[in-house]
Amino acid sequence: MSEERTVVSFDHHSAEFAADPVGALDSLRERCPVAWSDSYGGFWVLTRYEDVGNVLNDAATFSSRHDLEPGSAYQGASIPPPPMRFVPLELDPPEFLPYRRLLNPSFSPAAVARHRPLVENFTDWCIDRVHASGRIDFVDDLTSPVPAMVTLNLLGLPVEDWPRHAAAWHGSVAHPPDSPAHAEAVAAQMSIREDLAAEVESRRGRPERERSGLIDVCVDAEIDGAPIDKKTLVDIFVLVLAGGVDTTTGAAAGALAYLSEHHDDRRRLIADPALIGPACEEFLRWITPSPVLGRTANVATEIGGRCIAPQDRVMTNLFAANRDPVAFDRPEEVLFDRPNKRHAAFGFGIHRCIGANLARMEIQAMISRVLARIPDYEVDAGGVERYHTAGIQNGFISVPATFSPLIAERSIPPSHES
Ligand code: HEM
Repeated sequence: MSEERTVVSFDHHSAEFAADPVGALDSLRERCPVAWSDSYGGFWVLTRYEDVGNVLNDAATFSSRHDLEPGSAYQGASIPPPPMRFVPLELDPPEFLPYRRLLNPSFSPAAVARHRPLVENFTDWCIDRVHASGRIDFVDDLTSPVPAMVTLNLLGLPVEDWPRHAAAWHGSVAHPPDSPAHAEAVAAQMSIREDLAAEVESRRGRPERERSGLIDVCVDAEIDGAPIDKKTLVDIFVLVLAGGVDTTTGAAAGALAYLSEHHDDRRRLIADPALIGPACEEFLRWITPSPVLGRTANVATEIGGRCIAPQDRVMTNLFAANRDPVAFDRPEEVLFDRPNKRHAAFGFGIHRCIGANLARMEIQAMISRVLARIPDYEVDAGGVERYHTAGIQNGFISVPATFSPLIAERSIPPSHES
């Protein structure tokens, strides 16, 4: 075991990294798969699938806890940490468990299946709005609005508010950090927090018949015999919004951009819709919408032969894990019939994404409806714009496309109506 730290220059938020994240991570994995970066107070960078899995599956050694007190090493799941804590994402057991148990039923396969007709209708509504023009921006016109609508509906908030939420959650990643538009998106998130706090007040003690959605499930729930305090409830709802709105956007937009360039794969999905499920897993692996998870070592330990000191910060790079050639043969290629190995896009272990089934269903529904209604679309590759940073989300600002308006008429019903 080596006490030595190989210090590398690695800043996942830099423009240099965003210009070629795959190249940077491949090179790091080859040179030094357990490396130390001095950025943001210092952290280990893990780029091998196996190391990433080992860390995320060991919550006793690697903590997700986020102390908001300045100076604490426990800085939660983001590097650097935002000035807020996500619940239950940034809690450790035993405190974590009752929150996850409270949320689980709303994300079960049966609960998700009940949302599918609505998701198809949201998708059709989005296509209806643009179909006569023969033009669509897959991000602004479809993959940003639909997850916002779905998440609002899940929480029991008005779906019509989707533009405000798309602007806040997608906007904060889509606009450069120093731009006025970014500041507006962050201000919108703050005002959403305030509205959620007011919502909690107004919903406590609602009669059963008026309840709908996850907010109502949580506001009157008890943990260890006591109601959940308002701030923690808001932390939960903000996490569901932040987790639900823009991650799915990146995956679906990336999949649609890919299918524009790969006509054979598009034809395969149109001819055999049963392939959309496995294709969606491959897109999730290949895109990895949430590329980075942070942890803090509770005790002295070892990763890949390197000594990790207590309270060292550790970055598990999910994007790098998903491109590890030891885990995935020909990782750069999207292979719909790839042997069934669990990709890292939803993380691993106790915090593995609670919305995984919902996200899959949304991505599959959006792809299905697009292929049914605008099967001849062509993305204008010159207009495709990625996020400025590849350190928070892998996603797109814009994926503009054109298609034949006539085919896009609602001639093909959604699957649940057929
Ligand atoms: C493609 C879409 C998505 C991706 C790539 C994604 C990614 C992730 C990842 C990597 C984690 C693990 C975090 C950790 O271990 O620290 C996570 C957790 C979480 N995600 Fe997702 N997510 C997606 C969609 C969703 C959706 C649709 C929702 C809800 C509407 C959601 C809500 C959450 C929540 C609440 C957690 C915390 C779970 C816990 O701490 O137990 N996510 N997500």
